[in-house]
Amino acid sequence: MKKNIKPAQGKLGILIPGLGAVATTLIAGVEAVRKGISQPIGSVTQMGTIRLGKRTENRRPKIKDFVPLANLNDIVFGGWDVYSDNVYEAATNAAVLESALLSKIKTELEAIVPMKAAFDKNYAKNLIGTHVKQGTRYELAQQVIADIQNFKEAKGCDRIVLVWCGSTEIYYEASDVHSTLEKFEQGLKDDNKLISPSMIYAYAALKQGIPFANGAPNLTVDIPALIELAKLTETPIAGKDFKTGQTLMKTILAPGLAARALGVNGWFSDNILGNRDGLVLDDPDNFKTKEVSKLGVLEDIFKPEDNPELYGNIYHKIRINYYPPHGDNKESWDNIDIFGWLGYKMQIKINFLCRDSILAAPIALDLALFCDLAKRANMSGVQEWLSFYLKSPQTAPGLHAENDIFKQLIKLENTLRHMMGEDLITHLGLDYYEELAEAK
Ligand SMILES: NC(=O)c1ccc[n+]([C@@H]2O[C@H](COP(=O)([O-])OP(=O)(O)OC[C@H]3O[C@@H](n4cnc5c(N)ncnc54)[C@H](O)[C@@H]3O)[C@@H](O)[C@H]2O)c1
Repeated sequence: MKKNIKPAQGKLGILIPGLGAVATTLIAGVEAVRKGISQPIGSVTQMGTIRLGKRTENRRPKIKDFVPLANLNDIVFGGWDVYSDNVYEAATNAAVLESALLSKIKTELEAIVPMKAAFDKNYAKNLIGTHVKQGTRYELAQQVIADIQNFKEAKGCDRIVLVWCGSTEIYYEASDVHSTLEKFEQGLKDDNKLISPSMIYAYAALKQGIPFANGAPNLTVDIPALIELAKLTETPIAGKDFKTGQTLMKTILAPGLAARALGVNGWFSDNILGNRDGLVLDDPDNFKTKEVSKLGVLEDIFKPEDNPELYGNIYHKIRINYYPPHGDNKESWDNIDIFGWLGYKMQIKINFLCRDSILAAPIALDLALFCDLAKRANMSGVQEWLSFYLKSPQTAPGLHAENDIFKQLIKLENTLRHMMGEDLITHLGLDYYEELAEAK
């Protein structure tokens, strides 16, 4: 049965804490697409298709023509940053996109000026931001709420979503203040330093029923207090960490090895990158957050406890090195030691010369559009069907994350079919042969 989904009428405001490389590449990209200069490649919502019904029906619409998503022409961008550069300046500094492209959309990008950030330097020591709000955590949350309301009114938006594209925060685990909404709200009033800046934005959004997606590996909405708030205000949440670059490759390749029951005893991953993200990750406390997010992926795919002969002894090591000459063009090397029939050893080497923000921008767009769709479809709390886009997917407590990108895609597509009242596709396919037999 088709879900009752409210139409995507009016403007959608996408508000972004952190107008750095990813956010500016997203905003500039959407402007370029709107002007007909470029194509939204890598965005599943815009370019992806979905099979409907039986294979013989030949129904394969674009996803954007199947589910009622906001149109790119109806999107308005805004955001916050600890630096006051407008989006044109920030995009120029990030140096992801060529100046020839940026100059064609300069006026639109210059018009987007960041609001002052809710920031605490202890969470990103390598940033020297001055464009910041003052006050206790409670006051900061109230200011962010007011920012969102003012933006919505000034731009005439019908709906808002927030996507965290801010720097990776230092590593922290959930503690008592994160355990219930009541304690969290008291923590805001007490200016409890265990509440991170990203949580302040998330709280401000969820309190107003505004969906929140987290593109960084910090916990943010992945704490009981904010899950409680999301349920209370019937708001979708999704996290954590955009699945780009090396982890994208891992979640494509590892399911293939596991599918063929090939053994793996070592996976060494090295990275060099020179953007601001790399600078922040150069601090060991911030790197730890990223490392934890990246490490879980292989374990979840290989499930060594179920298959110790093949995967019980994997040595998995990840290194990230800040190397300014490469800018946003991250380079990664993977050395994978595998073994096959009778234990014979083989090696796979990957050298991925990737452009991190080029891979991340369409993910940020899709998360924003799907979170807005989920809200209109009355889906609230953790949106596990969006784990396709995330390195360290948030799940219900006690539930194993699914990291295999192909299973994640099936989950995403079946969720869309379910929303629209189409048959779910199991890929069993026996019916075609049964029908043939009956016809004889
Ligand atoms: N680039 C990718 O492919 C990729 C992939 C996965 C995850 N991510 C994550 O996405 C985030 C953004 O990546 P990026 O490459 O754009 O980094 P970036 O350093 O270029 O941009 C982050 C921006 O966030 C701002 N910021 C930091 N704390 C803030 C706060 N409290 N409020 C508002 N602004 C704040 C910084 O000033 C900076 O401009 C990072 O956390 C990164 O780890 C990026």
